[in-house]
Amino acid sequence: MKYGLIGCGGIGALRAEALGKLDGHSLVCVCDTDRARARDIAGRCGGRVIDDWRELVRQNDIDAVIVSTPPSLHMDMSIAALDAGKHVLCEKPLARNLDECQAMIDAATRNQRFLATGFNYRFYPSIIKARELLDSGIIGELDHVRSYTGYSATAHDHEWLHEFDTMGGGTLRDNGIHLIDLTAYFLGEVADIKGFSSGSVWQFPGCEDNGFALLRSSAGHLASLQSSWNEWRGYKLLVEIYGTLGCIRAWCFPMLTQVCWSQTRGGPLRKKTHLFARTHLMEKLKSYRWVVVESFVHEFAAFADAAAGNPSAVASGGDGMLTIRIADAATGGLAGGPC
Ligand SMILES: NC(=O)c1ccc[n+]([C@@H]2O[C@H](COP(=O)([O-])OP(=O)(O)OC[C@H]3O[C@@H](n4cnc5c(N)ncnc54)[C@H](O)[C@@H]3O)[C@@H](O)[C@H]2O)c1
Repeated sequence: MKYGLIGCGGIGALRAEALGKLDGHSLVCVCDTDRARARDIAGRCGGRVIDDWRELVRQNDIDAVIVSTPPSLHMDMSIAALDAGKHVLCEKPLARNLDECQAMIDAATRNQRFLATGFNYRFYPSIIKARELLDSGIIGELDHVRSYTGYSATAHDHEWLHEFDTMGGGTLRDNGIHLIDLTAYFLGEVADIKGFSSGSVWQFPGCEDNGFALLRSSAGHLASLQSSWNEWRGYKLLVEIYGTLGCIRAWCFPMLTQVCWSQTRGGPLRKKTHLFARTHLMEKLKSYRWVVVESFVHEFAAFADAAAGNPSAVASGGDGMLTIRIADAATGGLAGGPC
């Protein structure tokens, strides 16, 4: 798979690094309005610099385009790439609103190309393990999912992260969008959504700083989730999956999965903790960026599988749109909405 990368900021740089670790994947061209960033990535990871993203998507020697720019640019860039016959992996949130998501999905459909949403948390070791445990049946039948993520809005230095015009909303489209995706990923097909949000702490116009949602799947299972911009200290993300015989708890920071289960309903419980020693060691030695890059490596491999029409855990455009639908249900979907 040969890639063009639009957006050579923090995440674009890590995505370029990930491609270098994966056999059969290569970075062919890069673009950023900040030419120095594009040159830096091309120098370190290979590829030529192209000044205009519209030109990049038309290059004949690429199969796929990575869109890693602020969300207000995702729709135009992704549609142009899909119309040029490329597969697209677009960073999260897929777009600012449902109309933009739908237009992107329509472009993928009419061009018969794969549109992926960059939900790389699916490829963190704790989440891969949780999926494996749930699918093994160790906790019996799924009953409900409960999840939480939070950090402080002041912990991020991108001003656009708190701008409605760029993001389309607040915490639910930022850290919360990964949580929403993971919650739905474990719950199964989402049939009903209810939610509320508040914005009294930071008061960024149109951007909620707490969002709560309740989901019900078509099989009747329930989920509750909360995403917050005022955790105040540290970065938390936890997904708890409850079944008829036990439960699985997956943390991403620190990376950890616990499972407790019994052979019979209400019987004696056994417990196991999965610690992912290599991840912890490499995180200590090389920073959390190593962990992110590893998740991108797995995600790119899954993206290539999906583009070839094979089953894959990569998130689709439809998965990306569902997360926006859930975020909208919690905020009322209105500019400046109830928060
Ligand atoms: N997967 C994750 O966990 C994760 C984490 C953080 C951010 N993100 C997402 O990744 C995307 C990028 O975030 P980031 O933190 O790298 O932001 P960033 O600001 O560091 O990088 C964005 C880059 O896009 C460039 N850009 C802006 N307009 C452009 C244009 N018209 N043409 C070409 N380049 C242009 C900017 O110059 C900048 O270098 C966002 O969608 C964000 O939500 C994902």
